[in-house]
Amino acid sequence: MTFEEYLSNMKPGYTVDGGSEDHLIMHELSQRALKITMELNNKYHTKEEIVQLMSELTGQKIDESFGMFPPFYTDCGRNIHIGKNVFINVGCKFQDQGGIYIEDGVLIGHNAVLAKKVLIISTSLRGGSNSDILANECAKGAKEAGHDVELLSLKGKDIKYCIGCLSCQRTGRCVLKDDVADIMAKVKDAEVIVYATPIYYYEMCGQMKTLLDRLNPLYSTDYSFRDIYMIATAAENDESAFEKAYNGLQGWVDCFEKASLKSMIGGGGIDDANTAASHVDVMKKAYELGKEL
Ligand SMILES: Cc1cc2nc3c(=O)[nH]c(=O)nc-3n(C[C@H](O)[C@H](O)[C@H](O)COP(=O)(O)O)c2cc1C
Repeated sequence: MTFEEYLSNMKPGYTVDGGSEDHLIMHELSQRALKITMELNNKYHTKEEIVQLMSELTGQKIDESFGMFPPFYTDCGRNIHIGKNVFINVGCKFQDQGGIYIEDGVLIGHNAVLAKKVLIISTSLRGGSNSDILANECAKGAKEAGHDVELLSLKGKDIKYCIGCLSCQRTGRCVLKDDVADIMAKVKDAEVIVYATPIYYYEMCGQMKTLLDRLNPLYSTDYSFRDIYMIATAAENDESAFEKAYNGLQGWVDCFEKASLKSMIGGGGIDDANTAASHVDVMKKAYELGKEL
């Protein structure tokens, strides 16, 4: 397997098993990154030498306009993509297994950690919720990957039905006064959103659908979210139990053209409260999803 093949595999939800070919390449890439960053960080280099070392690290021709004050740290390096006139200041850390793209004319300040702002919305209202257990596992993985993670539960939240007045299309605000304004601000700001839902009658739960309807004011805003995921649990142990909920979420995502629905973790055969943790395969998938967001 080549580095390129490995990096194209590194999509969210993809599991790298210990001892697998992927794992060996991951290890090889991190050792390679350590070697180059040790050279970069442990003695003085001219601007031209830094461009050369960063070209070697990323496997791409870095533009001569690039500037950096080391030290600089990364666990991979081969999936960093840097535009023209970019400057990276002292002490930055990039976690680039899943890809980091820096556009032209960007200045990155001291000690910046490049990780994503992740919002996980857990929509089940049940005590001992199974989908919430998976949402927590996903949050654990995402935190360990260095992302900025918030796990938000709809329990206790006041979320009224959309009344369909569409005044939000003129004003950008909702006329209803409840907890949605706060949730909406977080959704708008996040780069990655994970919705966790129980399957109710082969669909997402009603409170999740109501929330999606109420997020209509975001339609014409400069929202930040790009990658959307779904986690769901169902009593039935068949992939088909999740299809309608996933398609329903797809309908919402399709209306936000800068966003895309990436993938889903479905925990089938999970019914009684507080039982998800014993389903080790799906727990692992939820954790890996968080790690690779
Ligand atoms: C109103 C209701 C409808 C349900 N409908 C389905 C269904 O259509 N298919 C299914 O497999 N499970 C169904 N279930 C079971 C739940 O999906 C399952 O218990 C799930 O683990 C609940 O997740 P939670 O603990 O996060 O709420 C339903 C449960 C409820 C309460």
